[in-house]
Amino acid sequence: MTTSKMSSSRVVIIGTGAVGATTAYTLLLRERVSELVLIDANHERALGEALDMNHGLPFTGGVKLWAGDYSDCADADIVIIAAGASQRPGETRIDLLKRNAGIFDSIIQNIVKYNDHGIILVATNPVDILTYVSWKKSGFPTNRVIGSGTLLDSARFRYLIGQNKGINPRSIHAHIVGEHGDSELPLWSLANVAGVGLEFEEQERSDIFSRTKNAAYEIINAKGSTSYAIALALDRIVVSILQDEGSVLNVSTLLTDYKGISDVYLGIPSVVDRSGVREILDLNLNDQELEQLRASANKLKSEIEKLEL
Ligand code: 2OP
Repeated sequence: MTTSKMSSSRVVIIGTGAVGATTAYTLLLRERVSELVLIDANHERALGEALDMNHGLPFTGGVKLWAGDYSDCADADIVIIAAGASQRPGETRIDLLKRNAGIFDSIIQNIVKYNDHGIILVATNPVDILTYVSWKKSGFPTNRVIGSGTLLDSARFRYLIGQNKGINPRSIHAHIVGEHGDSELPLWSLANVAGVGLEFEEQERSDIFSRTKNAAYEIINAKGSTSYAIALALDRIVVSILQDEGSVLNVSTLLTDYKGISDVYLGIPSVVDRSGVREILDLNLNDQELEQLRASANKLKSEIEKLEL
């Protein structure tokens, strides 16, 4: 047994497309949980993924994995939602809202029918809005309804800054906040290595941020979908929850009177532990960043207003 394996922990993954299946595989390889349940509207598909992964168990460890149904949510510590349509080339994440909001009604109803204590972790796009929808529909406290937010975007940002500086991305502290999507913003004023600020030419900044923001479009054009890095980001959130780490992660969380922003989920560095989001960090933003964060919030709020919640 590895030290990273939890004692008796269950994660349910709803939706076994590229993101759900890769997340399951990542959790399996890293032996993060003792029980992993795959649920899909197409049960055949979940069965196939479970079978394929189970055949690898002789080479991995003792994770119990099966294709289940919503009653398996009863004992879940975390339910990850990765179900729904993903972007086609040229589509924005917001373009998916109508299609994906529709299926969240029954998904959330089915989860809360069996589970009133777990954490809901949303990855389906547009993730900030669908996490808000999940919070509203579940009736769960906001700390227990979390979106993958800008954790992936921040990883892309750190990778690109690392490439530019020749420094391992793990040593780069830099954050993308706001919508996981086109209105997100880079916090250049807070980017640092060991507390030392990072210098860039204006053109370098613009290239790094544009490549960060457009990474998903680039990957979707090239191979149809993204899956590996988001799976690792979800793995990171799961571990911070199950091991009660208190790691600071840029998850999507409900903002209430946060620098004048309320009633919207956005990616902001937050302390994540066994309770879910324990605390949202009070960032020291400059005027331009503040203005962009508010614009990102307003964009998402105007989309939320169109929904019947
Ligand atoms: C991503 O950023 C498509 O939201 C997904 O990879």
